Amino acid sequence: MSKPKSDLRLLPGVDSFIDRRTFLVSLSKAIGAGSCALMFGNWPKPLYAAGQDNGHGTDGVPLRKRSAAKGLLFGGAAGYGTLSSNTDFVKLFAEQCAILVPESELKWARLRPAPDRYDFTQADWIAEFARKHDMLLRGHVLVWHDALPKWFSEVVTPKNAEKIMLEHIKTVAGRYEGRMHSWDVVNEAIASWDKRPDGLRNSPWLKLLGPRYIETAFRAAAEADPKALLVLNQNHLEYDTSGDEATRTSVLRLLENLKKRNVPVHALGIQAHLRSDETRFAPVKFRRFLRQVADLDLKIMITEMDVDDQKLPADPGSRDRIVADKYYEFLSAALAEPAVTSVITWGLSDRYTWLSSYKPRGDKLPVRTLPFDTDLHPKPAWHAIAKALDSAPKR
Ligand code: G3I
Repeated sequence: MSKPKSDLRLLPGVDSFIDRRTFLVSLSKAIGAGSCALMFGNWPKPLYAAGQDNGHGTDGVPLRKRSAAKGLLFGGAAGYGTLSSNTDFVKLFAEQCAILVPESELKWARLRPAPDRYDFTQADWIAEFARKHDMLLRGHVLVWHDALPKWFSEVVTPKNAEKIMLEHIKTVAGRYEGRMHSWDVVNEAIASWDKRPDGLRNSPWLKLLGPRYIETAFRAAAEADPKALLVLNQNHLEYDTSGDEATRTSVLRLLENLKKRNVPVHALGIQAHLRSDETRFAPVKFRRFLRQVADLDLKIMITEMDVDDQKLPADPGSRDRIVADKYYEFLSAALAEPAVTSVITWGLSDRYTWLSSYKPRGDKLPVRTLPFDTDLHPKPAWHAIAKALDSAPKR
């Protein structure tokens, strides 16, 4: 990672601007100003000092501060490997994020090397990191069909599943009692493609315990950490497609049901892994859904936002603009709903994103899906988020 080269680097992006300007001036001397101007047009405009418009309608105030001004939380997911090794990234993360989600360190596969053994080394390190950097911490995840340890399928049976799940929740949520802003208690419980009338995913937990596993998990989490906001976190909720519509309907039914039974569920997490080639986003319909959730006396968190760029053209300028538009389109609709309390991106810099391996580009170019690029410079996506936060009504 390149270190700041100048004391003038008061804000992220200023350094990048100086670097780019120096680079472009030399380049223009070499090949002529015309080509240089064309190239510059492909770069995002740099951030300037706070209070100064930079041409994107935003200034350089970090997302953490601009969200706080609206009573909102901005944050990101990050992993132990990154946070423990890249000091520039740490600086940027602490500056921009008010809340941190360990990307995988609290998942069963990481915490449970053997049925009778827990390894909290990395999770504890991240919890301490958040405290030291004055960030809230978010727990992800207590019950999920994915990231289960290899031993799970051999050891867990319908007979012992409840005991094992309850013991896990008590141990993990209990360990961080009073220190978690929120917990994703159950993740991705709905999967419309499994074709059950209730929309529930045919997950190992459902097979082992039946639909009641959700209620059981929430009650156990409330007991283990009574102060944490307990979240049902879900994907495929965003688009105006029949699949996402079915997910929204099932989620609403599930939440209504849980509330009726006084199950301690406090918020819906909307993952918001957006697709840049998907045009079927219907803001009015989406906001209606958010209102229906809010009417159940629930908060809403945007929990894992990113925009994949797998199918976009190679040119970084056009790619960045399309990705930024998707961020803005979605967030301006979501943040109009006062029950939405937070925006969390799944990563902060393109250097560290699951999409590099899960949705790589055919041309092998680095993906450009997050607010900061691989060199930690802000991209149009950053400005889009800033603008959406700035336009949000105050909570
Ligand atoms: O740590 C091991 C490493 O030791 C090993 O050499 C390497 C070999 O493949 O694997 C490493 O583990 C990987 C881990 O990420 C690293 O953090 C796993 O294979 C890989 O499956 C795992 O992927 C994570 C995935 O969840 C599954 O847990 C992604 O990073 C993470 O971004 C992704 O996050 C999920 C959310 O939890 C839920 N919503 C969707 C989101 C994106 O898929």
